[in-house]
Amino acid sequence: MKGAVRAHWGSRMAFVLAAAGSAIGLGNIWKFPYVAGVNGGGLFVLIYIFCILLVGIPVFIAELYIGQQGQKNVVESFEVLDKKRTVWSFPGYLGLVSAFFILSFYSVVGGWVLDFEYRSLMFQFSGMNHKDVGEILNSLFSNPLRQTFWHFCFVLLSGSVVWAGVSKGLERFNKVLMPSLLVILLGLLGYSFTLPGFSKALDFLFFPHATDISASSILEAVGHSFFTLSLGMGAILTYGSYLSKKESLSRVAFTVAFLDTTIALIAGMIIFSIVFSFDLEPAAGPGLIFATLPSLFVQLPGGSILSILFFLLVTFAALTSAVSILEVVVAFWTERFNTSRHKTTLVVALVVFLFGLPSVFSTNIMSDVKMFGLTFFDLFDKLTSSYFLPIGGLLISLFYGWKLGPKAIEKTFGGPIKFWSTGLLWLTRVVAPLAIFLVLYNMAVGF
Ligand code: PFF
Repeated sequence: MKGAVRAHWGSRMAFVLAAAGSAIGLGNIWKFPYVAGVNGGGLFVLIYIFCILLVGIPVFIAELYIGQQGQKNVVESFEVLDKKRTVWSFPGYLGLVSAFFILSFYSVVGGWVLDFEYRSLMFQFSGMNHKDVGEILNSLFSNPLRQTFWHFCFVLLSGSVVWAGVSKGLERFNKVLMPSLLVILLGLLGYSFTLPGFSKALDFLFFPHATDISASSILEAVGHSFFTLSLGMGAILTYGSYLSKKESLSRVAFTVAFLDTTIALIAGMIIFSIVFSFDLEPAAGPGLIFATLPSLFVQLPGGSILSILFFLLVTFAALTSAVSILEVVVAFWTERFNTSRHKTTLVVALVVFLFGLPSVFSTNIMSDVKMFGLTFFDLFDKLTSSYFLPIGGLLISLFYGWKLGPKAIEKTFGGPIKFWSTGLLWLTRVVAPLAIFLVLYNMAVGF
């Protein structure tokens, strides 16, 4: 709608569900288990939790505040809080670029999930062993047309939600999907509790084994804490801009961060219980949930249903996150250029679809095309998680801590500076930026 009054969430709960919907996604269910698996488990998980507490939550609050007080999109909120054409709108523009890069591989993985859900519904995994399922994954990877089709479906689904708008699309969608996701997840957790590998999974995830943690594992933990909380590119900022100026933010940030981390850990418990029950490799990489789980599900009583439920859960999680990424671009474009939401969503979705094709082709016809030794899929993932999001988060933190300063923090808490607000002030001024800077510096130059 051109020039319409800005939309707002119908309730505080609607906002929490939408923000949790954005945060809880493929990052929790697909990425966290395999990244924790590749990095040796417990110690990595501990570092990741530290990153969430010391870096993630402060940046989350900063993003929310900028959106809520700016009441504008990812670029113009900075301009409202500082001045027109401020250099501080740079993280906004970087966020727009990140949105396309993330969606380009995110919706391809979303497409794999849709394909596996479809196969589960058709009971195609029945009677298959681990090798057969591996073959299915490989045949999907080597089939550009099939992947393009599912990638298209995923973009179409997420586009339709954004097309419908904030209250009729995003809010309604999250209100139904997020509670369903929670119910399925808890059901699967109850199931994994009965498996022989459950205690080994707990040990793997929560006991810091003396593994070598390299600098790149630490970068991965920092990067993942941004990715999983949807930080550093304006998704939380944009959702925050649909909150009324009066809502207090700190509790919301803690709730979402708590939900996100708990769900990643629960997903890890479920997946590793199965992995260890069948003596499989926890470090299997990106194929972990696709290559191993369906074949294991079918060996379990009621396994076909488990497989349907599991991929449905991942579909919900992926869609509620993808819509928040699309919304960043659509909100910016409609407000900046005064275009209609419907047309803008159509164009942005089309561009996202085309931009995703190099990622689709990364596992087949373009698997040999590499930049910096990485396929497009890996490059887009690495560039965003390891660089763009942390850089965006660093700038957002500095803007909030220094440019807006104590007054903003006082407003965030709705009262004068006390223990928590002083803590937040220095976390956003020094601790979070320094931690991100050191990690980036170490990656670029080495100590
Ligand atoms: N947080 C999402 C996940 O964990 O899957 C991914 C994501 C969504 C990243 C939105 C960035 C973003 F702005």
